[in-house]
Amino acid sequence: MTMAPGPSADEFKETVRSRTDIVHLIGETVTLQPNGRVFKGLCPFHDDHNPSFTVNPERQTYKCWSCQEGGDCFSFVMKHDALNFRETLEMLAARAGLEIPKTLRRGPDEKKNKPHLYDVLAWAEQEFHQCLLSTAVAERARNYLLSRGFNHAMTSRFKLGYHPESWDWLLQRAKGQFDPELLVEADLARPRDGQSGFYDKFVDRIMFPIHDERGRTVAFGGRILPDSKSKSDAKYLNSSETPVFSKSRICYALDVARDAIKKTDMVLVMEGYADCVKAHQGGILNAVATLGTALTESHVTLLKRLARKVVLVFDGDRAGIEAAEKAIPRFLAQDVDLRILTVPDELDPDEFIDQRGGDALLALAEDAPEAFEYQLRLLLGRYGTTTLDGRQRVLDGMLNLLLGCPGIHGTVREDMILGKLPQRVGLSEVEVRRRLKELQNKQSVQPSRVAERKVNVTAPADDVEQRQWKQAIDSLQRSANGDDLLECELLQMLFAHPHLTDQVRREIGANDLRHELLQEILSHWFDMLEEGVEPTYDRLLSRTECPQRKRLMVWIDEQARHREYTQSLADARTMGTETAEDGVRRVIDRIRWRRSVLANQASKSLLFERPAETAKLTTETRRLLEQAARFHRERTTK
Ligand code: UTP
Ligand code: MN
Repeated sequence: MTMAPGPSADEFKETVRSRTDIVHLIGETVTLQPNGRVFKGLCPFHDDHNPSFTVNPERQTYKCWSCQEGGDCFSFVMKHDALNFRETLEMLAARAGLEIPKTLRRGPDEKKNKPHLYDVLAWAEQEFHQCLLSTAVAERARNYLLSRGFNHAMTSRFKLGYHPESWDWLLQRAKGQFDPELLVEADLARPRDGQSGFYDKFVDRIMFPIHDERGRTVAFGGRILPDSKSKSDAKYLNSSETPVFSKSRICYALDVARDAIKKTDMVLVMEGYADCVKAHQGGILNAVATLGTALTESHVTLLKRLARKVVLVFDGDRAGIEAAEKAIPRFLAQDVDLRILTVPDELDPDEFIDQRGGDALLALAEDAPEAFEYQLRLLLGRYGTTTLDGRQRVLDGMLNLLLGCPGIHGTVREDMILGKLPQRVGLSEVEVRRRLKELQNKQSVQPSRVAERKVNVTAPADDVEQRQWKQAIDSLQRSANGDDLLECELLQMLFAHPHLTDQVRREIGANDLRHELLQEILSHWFDMLEEGVEPTYDRLLSRTECPQRKRLMVWIDEQARHREYTQSLADARTMGTETAEDGVRRVIDRIRWRRSVLANQASKSLLFERPAETAKLTTETRRLLEQAARFHRERTTK
């Protein structure tokens, strides 16, 4: 019963955008005059007497220089016609003669007062939960949970549920309340292949509801019962991306774990729902899980706002160790205390807690090695140090890790790792540096791109969030400081010259930006790379539904245009300006310079904390002093 997948919501949005000419669209309601490369008119969003509203055909965006409104075709219609995103998509699709794909369609009669996705998801959660607690058909499910040692308190804290072995159980119960199309939109049901009618997506599964940070139900993970008739299906089935659910940005159980994470300043990130629930049952209240995908940059950005220490917990089997190794280079440079724990004895966290208890796992997590130390131990274990060949392999492994790690070059962390290597691998510092140079020269410059599924990076924000965004953006636009402008400039470069992304990604992490909104945009930009789609400005806009976020993106992009900046970059040296390559080099250098200033401050304060009687310098102190000296040398040459 598999369906040929139609276009995803993102793909469809991109098609609609590409078939909509913004000059025509806005021209239908605003009188526009050509003016250089743009069109000008009276702003429809404020009482305008001088034309301060511009439409940019090349970028397919609009911007008012007076009231600061701005956006793309979607935000224009949303604002101008007071429609929500969904209605806007329908309107623009119809205008472009495009049919909404079946999978994205909804009933004709629910345009007014339509129940929202959140309503149907919350309702379904309740149905599944009640079913598990109190129906006869859920007996097998209850026994299964018992056999796995889950107690009633967890069933209730995580609102676990059950969908019985029937292909229309949920559809039947929805009758009179929710239309099947809405269930489809929430990814709870699917249209039948080539026939009329629908069937439930999750059948004979334990249901793990997934909540956003505010506790709203946004998706489900469903685990098949082991003796199920449909056992040929995947063990876990997860909701696909919907307008309210974005996998790369949501952590399972974050709503429940949030307070404990803040209190302990630490978070354990598990790979599975069952592991995470079992952790809570074992008293590890600061545990969350990813949703069957690798940890993303957005996840880390989200988590590090809550806690300094992030422990990634992997299964102890081969797959777990491989997953750990894959995660390390992606986050080594992030400004968090990232630890890696692979559970001993090839157990997964759930089994480990069953056998030895939650405290034992927590103790392991607290002592878990830092990411690079984990990798070093792994390589030492793999190749040994008894032979020269083994030592060189360990060294190459670590150096390649550094070279392949975006944004680590020139950081304290890189220095620390390089400082430790000679002694640990039993080679001289000279040899280590020489080998680093060799590998640097050899290195091909392509960073690895993890192919992940496409995701909708930005769920529509509700009113409160919209207001907060509006305030934050207003304040950025009114009073951007030098740091903010530098960060905006980096984004402008990427928007105008997406091919520079690889270079930027290699040298700068999203966390190098200090402004939270700009950091979020850069994370989204890098997320596309991680997902295996080419980042473009157009795509970024398409994937963002929140009009306020779009307004910021357009503002950043237009800022450059206004100063004739991107153009002069492209026009290169003939005009006495810089090329995009030179420009991005300059911006990267300034951001990295800023980073090393910060790092210097940090290490100075570290030195300061050392007790005065340490007359004999420890290697750590010596390293810090050397670094301080290098910093000052560099500063005098800037
Ligand atoms: P595991 O295969 O490690 O399962 O998948 P588990 O967590 O130990 O599950 P139990 O103990 O057998 O119930 C880890 C995670 O990967 C995703 C799920 O999010 C799961 O929690 N996954 C796994 C899927 O999305 N689909 C699958 O078919 C399997
Ligand atoms: Mn398991």
